[in-house]
Amino acid sequence: LILAAEKLSRRFGDFVAVREVSLGIQRGETVALVGRSGSGKTTLLHMLGLLEAPSGGRVVCGDIDASALSSRNRAALRLQQFGFVFQVHHLLGHLTARENVALPHWRQHGDRTAALEAADQLLDKFGVDGGKRPAQLSTGGGQRVAIARALVNKPSILLADEPTGSLDSASAKVVLEALFGAHAEALVIVTHDLGVAERAQRRITLSDGSIVAPEPRPQIAEG
Ligand SMILES: Nc1ncnc2c1ncn2[C@@H]1O[C@H](COP(=O)(O)OP(=O)(O)O)[C@@H](O)[C@H]1O
Ligand SMILES: [Mg+2]
Repeated sequence: LILAAEKLSRRFGDFVAVREVSLGIQRGETVALVGRSGSGKTTLLHMLGLLEAPSGGRVVCGDIDASALSSRNRAALRLQQFGFVFQVHHLLGHLTARENVALPHWRQHGDRTAALEAADQLLDKFGVDGGKRPAQLSTGGGQRVAIARALVNKPSILLADEPTGSLDSASAKVVLEALFGAHAEALVIVTHDLGVAERAQRRITLSDGSIVAPEPRPQIAEG
C-alpha cells in the first residue's frame, strides 16, 4: 500500500463529518471518491493528504505513520509525497504561471533555475503559456497550471478534489487527460461526474462520513 487510512474520523464540534474510515490505496491505483455533497469527501481527502489532522485514527504513508510525526516533519512529507489539485486553482495572482509551478520545486530543492526549467517542461506538455498570470488564463488553463504545480515535485500521490467541477466539458477533458496521464504512482480523485468516476480503477462511496459497501452485482435470474 502506498497510502492507508486506519479508522480515520473527523469531528467538528458534535458533528461527525468522517466516521472511522479505513481504506488502502495500492501503488499504481486510480481511485474515485464519490458521494453526495456533504458526505465528507473533502474532509477525508484533506486528512489523506496530511492537510488536516484527524480527530481519531491515522494515515500511513508507505511505512510512515503520519500521526507520529511532528507537524514540521509532516509538512515535509506532504511537500515531498503529495500533489493537490483543488476545485479552484488557488494560483498566486502576482506570479506568472511558470513561477507558480516552479515555487514548490524551488522550495524543495533550492535551485531557482532548475525549478523554472521543470515548470517550463510541464507547462509545455500541458500547452499553457507560462508567461501569463492566472487572471489572463481561462479556467481550464488555470487548472492545467494547478496540475503542473501539483506534479512539479514528482509526487507519489496525486489528490484531486472535483478538479473539473468548474470547467466546461472541453476544458474538463483536457484537465482529465492531464490528471490521468500524470506519472504519479496513485491518484485519488473526488468527483460528482459519473464519467470521471468510471475512468478510475476503483470507486469508494461515502455517505454521511462512512464508506458504503460496494453494491452487490445484480443477480441474473435463471431459467
Ligand atoms: N470546518 C468545518 N467546520 C464545520 N463543519 C464542517 C467543516 N468542514 C466540513 N464541515 C461539514 O462536514 C460535512 C462534510 O463536509 P465535506 O467534507 O466538505 O463534504 P463533501 O466534500 O463530500 O461535500 C458537511 O456537513 C460540512 O458542512
Ligand atoms: Mg467537497
